[in-house]
Amino acid sequence: MELSTQGLPLSQRAMRANISPISWLLSKALEHPNMISLAAGFVDGGGLPSGPIARICAELLADGGRSMAALNYGTTAGSPLLRELLAEQLRKEGLSSAKPEDLIISNGGQQSLFTLTDATVDPGDIVLVEDPTYFVYLDVLRAAGARVIGVTTDEYGLVPEALEERLEELHQSGERHRLRLIYLMSYYTNPKGVNLPWERRKRIDEIVRAELERGDSFLVVEDAAYRELRLEGPDEPFLKSLDPENERIIVVGTFSKAFAPGLRLGWCMGPPWVLDRMARLKGNQDFGSSNFSQAIMAHAMQEGSSVDAAENFRSRYRSKRDALVNAMREFWPPEAQIIEPHGGLYAWASLPGIDTDPESEFFNRLFEKEVLYVPGKYCFCEETQGPRPKDSMRLSYGVASEELLREGARRMGEVIADMMP
Ligand SMILES: Cc1ncc(COP(=O)(O)O)c(C=O)c1O
Repeated sequence: MELSTQGLPLSQRAMRANISPISWLLSKALEHPNMISLAAGFVDGGGLPSGPIARICAELLADGGRSMAALNYGTTAGSPLLRELLAEQLRKEGLSSAKPEDLIISNGGQQSLFTLTDATVDPGDIVLVEDPTYFVYLDVLRAAGARVIGVTTDEYGLVPEALEERLEELHQSGERHRLRLIYLMSYYTNPKGVNLPWERRKRIDEIVRAELERGDSFLVVEDAAYRELRLEGPDEPFLKSLDPENERIIVVGTFSKAFAPGLRLGWCMGPPWVLDRMARLKGNQDFGSSNFSQAIMAHAMQEGSSVDAAENFRSRYRSKRDALVNAMREFWPPEAQIIEPHGGLYAWASLPGIDTDPESEFFNRLFEKEVLYVPGKYCFCEETQGPRPKDSMRLSYGVASEELLREGARRMGEVIADMMP
């Protein structure tokens, strides 16, 4: 229920802030304990590295000097040791210029996205996003008062020609100077589960370079949240690897998906001019992310347990992804369009002729059958490049067991077969 806010001293920004649609979905799931939730994007609890973390905590706390440091305040930009280890890892992964001073450790990747937006976007400024995109970030942009414009995607991710068209439209309408950010996910996107091919990464960077020469400055945001969850297929280098000058691209990563989201640690690496402002804004918020979490993470990286945890997650998700996708193929009519993910946590499907919106007949029938999904509607921004599709949905295989994934897909198949024109 919406609380009345009339006459209350609330900021315009607070009034623009949405309750995430996923909270509504999760509260629905809680009302029904037997609900098979294919909606929540949580990580697989059984894969969390609780054993190594318990040992690391015990070791840390038993060591006077290190425990005193870990339990105290740290620095706003993050633990020097963790940034050093991360920079070293990123250099091995192709970001040859990665240096600790170009990194900020944040409270999850989410805080990097928020602070970056806070540092660059004023109300009325324009942000281009993939359509569909990560809906939690859509809410960040809405609260910032941004004008969010969608760029079409296909089964390979952002379509470079669609980006060119959007940029041209901004020139034509005289609004190009309001463009601040182009936000895209480069690995196993949320919600579509697609991995941007190397050729497209290069093409997008070419378009961006040409565009920067033509007009005012803006930043590309590469959200690499699911990079570590590659289940098969090519290991594409970061989009950021095309920016060794560290001028145009800020890359955001996280320790949530391949280690432990409860530590609430993420990071970003980008041009010094924006990092400096982000660090000031982060300083206003929290003086730095949890020093204790950072000490745990650094220790895990030094001893290699972070690598083992990532491998464990990948093997669990491979089986779960197979369970879900095989059941979709087995129980769904062939007209259903399924994008089979090669990594990440999500499968995306379009059901021609079926309205999947919240409270639609399809949604309600599945709700009665105790199956929950994320309606595609939540993931599209207001200014889509064509008509906003109403027939899509996101299914996540992170949390449910293989048996429940199969059963959820089977129940869905019954309703789809019954409703498909
Ligand atoms: C695409 C994407 N980016 C960023 C995040 C932020 O995650 P965290 O704050 O846990 O690092 C998420 C979380 O689900 C995500 O899906």
